[in-house]
Amino acid sequence: MPRSVSISSRLFLIAALVIVLTAAVGCARVTKGPVLLRVSEDRAALMWETEVEGPGEVLYGRDNSLRKKVTTEPIRVEYKINKKAAYIHKVWLENLEPGQTYSYRVTGPMAPILQRITKLGQSPSQSKVYKFRTVPADTNEVTFLVYGDSRTDPKTHRKVVEQMMKKKVDFVVNCGDLVSSGDRYEQFGPQFFEPVKGLAETVALYIAKGNHEGNSGNFEKLLIPRGEKNSFSFDYGPLHYLCVDNVSKGLQSEEQLELIASDAKSSTARWKFVSYHIPSLNFGGHWSAWGHPDALRILAEAGVDFVITGHSHQYERFRPVVPPPGTKGSYVTHITCGGGGAPLSRVEQSLYHAYAGKIYHFCLFHIKDNKLTMDTFDINGKIIDHLEITKTNGKLNKQYLWTAVPMAAVRLHQDLHKTQPTRLSNWPEKNQPFTFTYQLSVPPLSEPANITFKLRCDEGAYQLPEPKTLTIPKEGGTFKVELTVTPLVGGKVPKDKRGRAQTIVPALWLDCHYEIGRAREIVSHPIIAKP
Ligand SMILES: [Fe+2]
Repeated sequence: MPRSVSISSRLFLIAALVIVLTAAVGCARVTKGPVLLRVSEDRAALMWETEVEGPGEVLYGRDNSLRKKVTTEPIRVEYKINKKAAYIHKVWLENLEPGQTYSYRVTGPMAPILQRITKLGQSPSQSKVYKFRTVPADTNEVTFLVYGDSRTDPKTHRKVVEQMMKKKVDFVVNCGDLVSSGDRYEQFGPQFFEPVKGLAETVALYIAKGNHEGNSGNFEKLLIPRGEKNSFSFDYGPLHYLCVDNVSKGLQSEEQLELIASDAKSSTARWKFVSYHIPSLNFGGHWSAWGHPDALRILAEAGVDFVITGHSHQYERFRPVVPPPGTKGSYVTHITCGGGGAPLSRVEQSLYHAYAGKIYHFCLFHIKDNKLTMDTFDINGKIIDHLEITKTNGKLNKQYLWTAVPMAAVRLHQDLHKTQPTRLSNWPEKNQPFTFTYQLSVPPLSEPANITFKLRCDEGAYQLPEPKTLTIPKEGGTFKVELTVTPLVGGKVPKDKRGRAQTIVPALWLDCHYEIGRAREIVSHPIIAKP
């Protein structure tokens, strides 16, 4: 009997020890990452997270060796909901050789209980061994992925990442909005780090900060390497790429545009790319126009080739924008690449789009010398857009330039969309005429423009005025039209819970038909009123 009690006790003790050890190993594990944040010719930046306090380390080396070691001093962060602490490890691997494959393994500190009861020389909280390749010193080729707005729906984000993992690339750019609310630390795990597993350990993931990352500093603590800033550039063979923060509190668009201009002008690379989160050209979704009305001109004069942004959850590739007349600027291609997982927004094809769609997607670029190819893939891996261009002696091929749209027309479209009709003079009631005005400020144009204002409604609902035409001179200026409408039936304004203005019923639209050079388009505004 005493013997069987003794055996049971021993078994119980062993089981308890196994449980304690399992829990200790579990909480000592690498809980986020590792993620490669930068890779250049001679160094690379890594990050990972553990939930145990203490230094971590990276073992790394050429090919399959792990002979070198760097240790980290982690940053402590706290979850908002339960005050749980986490420790972010960030490290640079220095003195690497260009164009070489390196292996690495990260470890976290050992859990205190394990430190006390084991004599193991190595922490159990280590990652797998991963490999990455440094940038070659002399290459004429680069392949990379761009996507953005991967927040809020991790399952869709993961599906996009799984498609991206099928491509062999040198790096990945994310145009921002990684999480719904970056001020809540707990969102980064499920919305960002979990979905990028299998991709971000082996290729650098460059991020242009999104507005949803917030201003608490969580984004910077996790994803900006030590000594680096939110805006940064890097080179890869024929490509120069700049990622710019245009969302953090206190930043001025003028300063950030100046940064873009000076960075692009100082680079001699054949192809110059810029990514920032809020677009300067975007029709649909948020209809963003960051840096308006100067951004398009500054980007062209700086010699930028591609501006890839996010924020609006859609895909739109614009036709190249003609630089201002008399300048030596570039024909800039703007792409909104905001379909990485967040709920999609509506976009309609316009004169200015080469392609526009409400679709989850990512872009794959391949550049070899003077030739650039881009394929945009949907979430099922199907190509939805394809572009092939060449650049010789600094000039894009003629066939591509023929598709270009004048900058003045693009800016007029932005101005017309931004400007809403004024309030109605009175509530829409049967046989009671009401008046509203449309006042437009137009910066100088490259040539005069004509705008015809026409009202449109369901037949028999309103008595409409004759269309009115404005001629905008080259110098631009402020212009105003007044329009009077008589309802022929009883009208109403639908209620809104938050008291926002609603489209009046029966519906009435103001169509602004404009013509500038060879460009003809329409911008429509529903006539709205506050209930
Ligand atoms: Fe955004």
